[in-house]
Amino acid sequence: MKINSKILIIAGSDSSGGAGIQADIKSVTSLGSYAMTAITAVTAQNTKAVKSIIPIPTKEISNQIEFTSNDIKPDSVKIGMLHSTQVINTVLKSIKKLNLKKIILDPVMVAKGGTRLINDKAVLILKNKLIQKVDLITPNIPEAEMLTAMKIKSMNDMKIAAKILLDLGARNVLIKGGHLESKILKDIFVNKKEISIFTNKKIITKNTHGTGCTLSSAIATYYGCGKTLKKSCELGIRYVNNAIKTRPNFGKGNGPINHLNSFIIEKKFR
Ligand SMILES: Nc1ncnc2c1ncn2[C@@H]1O[C@H](COP(=O)(O)OP(=O)(O)OP(=O)(O)O)[C@@H](O)[C@H]1O
Ligand SMILES: [Mg+2]
Repeated sequence: MKINSKILIIAGSDSSGGAGIQADIKSVTSLGSYAMTAITAVTAQNTKAVKSIIPIPTKEISNQIEFTSNDIKPDSVKIGMLHSTQVINTVLKSIKKLNLKKIILDPVMVAKGGTRLINDKAVLILKNKLIQKVDLITPNIPEAEMLTAMKIKSMNDMKIAAKILLDLGARNVLIKGGHLESKILKDIFVNKKEISIFTNKKIITKNTHGTGCTLSSAIATYYGCGKTLKKSCELGIRYVNNAIKTRPNFGKGNGPINHLNSFIIEKKFR
């Protein structure tokens, strides 16, 4: 199989392999592209909880981004966990210096188990400095609430929050509906010109660890391959949906999804 495109992932490591950099590499690879990484933090976690988080020094983060991208130019970039103001500023500087394009930002703030992954000041910088510099942001409901200072309880609230994010300077917004109490899940894609709603039946399972990381990496992969942002969101959501449907049952908490759902293993490797 020929490698389609080259994707740079800037995110935290999840030792349990279901979310973070690990989910990102698996998604990019499973969708036929080449994954490069800049690790922002190392977490020790399992499907039940986050035990510890060690931040990587900012100089080392910019080294990873710049040294790698100067050699292999990324076709698109996925940004995940950025836990502090210093990390956000470092990433912004490197993006500017290298003139990186096609950037998807998953504004990770809270882990599935409830652990806060970003401090208050960083949320402010993310809101006022970073979201304007990327092509798409993909907040879940609690993240969209934090960024807009409003409560989101319905599709109408999601539309209002998306409009606020566009007014703040976001170019494209995908608000994920995974956290709303409903049998039908709706993700909403919005920019100044269009609005699209992607609808799926809610799959009843606690094994949804890493759905958000997986989705943003899948979108970055499709976008890096030349699809439009809207199409990339549609295809990314489909990939995540199939990954949830075929989830393994690993761990005693919120288990991972099946990143390999797009794979057909050639006979010679079986
Ligand atoms: N139970 C489910 N059934 C079907 N689709 C789901 C389910 N949970 C989440 N999704 C889908 O997964 C994608 C990610 O949404 P979600 O709201 O879970 O992101 P997230 O909260 O950022 O995830 P994470 O906790 O990994 O950060 C969305 O397309 C959403 O619709
Ligand atoms: Mg998330």
